[in-house]
Amino acid sequence: MRTPFIAGNWKMHKTLSEARELVEGIKERTASIWGVDILLCPPVYLLFPMAKSVAGTNLMLGAQNVHDEPQGAFTGEHTVAMIADTGATHVIVGHSERRHVFGETNDWLARKVRAVVAGGLEAIYCVGETLDERESGKTQRIVDGQITEAIGTDVDPKKLTIAYEPVWAIGTGKTATPEQAQEVHAAIRAKLGSIYGLAAADATRILYGGSVKPGNAPDLLAQPDIDGALVGGACLVADDFAAIIAAAAEVVSAA
Ligand code: PGA
Repeated sequence: MRTPFIAGNWKMHKTLSEARELVEGIKERTASIWGVDILLCPPVYLLFPMAKSVAGTNLMLGAQNVHDEPQGAFTGEHTVAMIADTGATHVIVGHSERRHVFGETNDWLARKVRAVVAGGLEAIYCVGETLDERESGKTQRIVDGQITEAIGTDVDPKKLTIAYEPVWAIGTGKTATPEQAQEVHAAIRAKLGSIYGLAAADATRILYGGSVKPGNAPDLLAQPDIDGALVGGACLVADDFAAIIAAAAEVVSAA
């Protein structure tokens, strides 16, 4: 069985004192939970202090974005080595806000995924369709393209997690139904199978993201191809994030 993976994407939220309070709350509420991989992705300036806060726990840290170049004149950006220096182990690549607000393309994201893996970190590569694309029946074509244009046999699948996040469900309170999400997750796994072979595809975790909350997490996480969640809004509240993690632990114990 794939170990469930719950990742919190803090986006541009939390000052240092707020972050410390949140992490203490998550630590308290998850100390007795086992069998779930838990990742916190705070703003990059918080990675160093948060590394201290999570030391000795099973909480892992990740960045929300990275530049693909190893150094250079790229104002405001960070390299993979800088992220790795903080003790972070993961990087979210291609979040829909990076694609749609900051104009990141599949080509660029392909370079970012490779830079992350070459730098010894793991990539959480995000894919997902807009509402227009879903309504015009293009969901699978869009998601397939996002995968084939950014992922290939030169990327070690062991260093890769996929996050399916329908753009229309992010921060909107609208969630894909468990069936809608499962359908896309199964198709993503089939696509990974065509790239890496069935065994590697079967071992790769595919997270769902888009308005995941304590109330809808159990049904989403119970789907056979949903291996965890990339959580935005609900990860900023310790009770909510911990409840989603507990729901993932429940799936493990029920298996
Ligand atoms: P949300 O965000 O849970 O607030 O919808 C998810 C994400 O953007 O990763």
